[in-house]
Amino acid sequence: MSCPYSNKPTDPEGQTNYRAIEDNIHTDFKDDMSYGDYLHLEKVLNAQHPLSNQHDEMLFIVIHQASELWIKLAGHELNEAVENIKSGDFGHAFKVIARVKQILSQLTQSWGILSTLTPVDYLKFRDTLGHSSGFQSYGYRKIEFLLGNKNAELLKVHESNPQVHQELQYILNQPSLYDEALLALKSHGLPIDKAVLERDFSLPYQANKSVLNAWLTVYQNAEQYFHLYELAEKLVDIEDSFQQWRFKHMYTVQRIIGNKIGTGGSSGVSFLKKALDISFFPELFELRTHL
Ligand code: HEM
Repeated sequence: MSCPYSNKPTDPEGQTNYRAIEDNIHTDFKDDMSYGDYLHLEKVLNAQHPLSNQHDEMLFIVIHQASELWIKLAGHELNEAVENIKSGDFGHAFKVIARVKQILSQLTQSWGILSTLTPVDYLKFRDTLGHSSGFQSYGYRKIEFLLGNKNAELLKVHESNPQVHQELQYILNQPSLYDEALLALKSHGLPIDKAVLERDFSLPYQANKSVLNAWLTVYQNAEQYFHLYELAEKLVDIEDSFQQWRFKHMYTVQRIIGNKIGTGGSSGVSFLKKALDISFFPELFELRTHL
């Protein structure tokens, strides 16, 4: 029976502010796959094991785990983008690159939550972390490599995990998203130095004049090279979002530990600041000066 004075749902006994469940809603999961089964929530939601009795350690664990999941998705999408560009499927590449940009924005937003952790509260459990550090995040290293920030030295911390080491070594040696974009410039008839196209992909990318000129041609003839022009702007979006993540990480770290050394052994903030000078797509930024 419904209440004559209110549009709010009522239960059979006439209570308001209540949603009765519908007859067709599935409730028996003895032999049926449930939401939790599909998502393996028992594993995911039982993977938080604080090492101290400090209230804030849960925040610290959850923010890292949630970030790792988003990073994993970003890696999955970037792999797809590399394949799409390789096969000339720009439409799909744009779709997944746009998604990566949103994932990076989501990751950047999470620094706001972490900045509610005060230096004093963090110090109460910091020692329990030992030498563990985000520096050892293989998901993160994977996306850096996929985007083109190659550095073989960074494989060292993964030697104790052969499977991860092998995967990272493979990605290190493969053309990055940017390398594939440069091959696409070439296949659209733009002259690119052979040394760039046939470079050792495991080495850090070095900015090159022929690449700068090719991108300049694209920007100055955007109608003619519209796909490449759009691709370039999408890559700029990604670098922009990535740098925001790097910056907020560095700044949040500074806010929490000042200039203390990192648990991973680096100089901390000054080491993180150096990453801000690394560009995935250097010519795409340089060309703006020459337009
Ligand atoms: C209290 C919070 C945090 C502090 C104090 C902190 C501190 C640091 C420091 C000092 C480093 C440099 C390596 C070292 O010596 O340890 C580092 C690297 C790193 N951290 Fe964090 N971090 C925090 C939170 C996070 C979170 C939430 C993530 C998310 C996944 C993260 C991901 C990373 C990554 C990926 C690196 C490597 C960066 C690179 O290679 O440039 N960190 N962190």
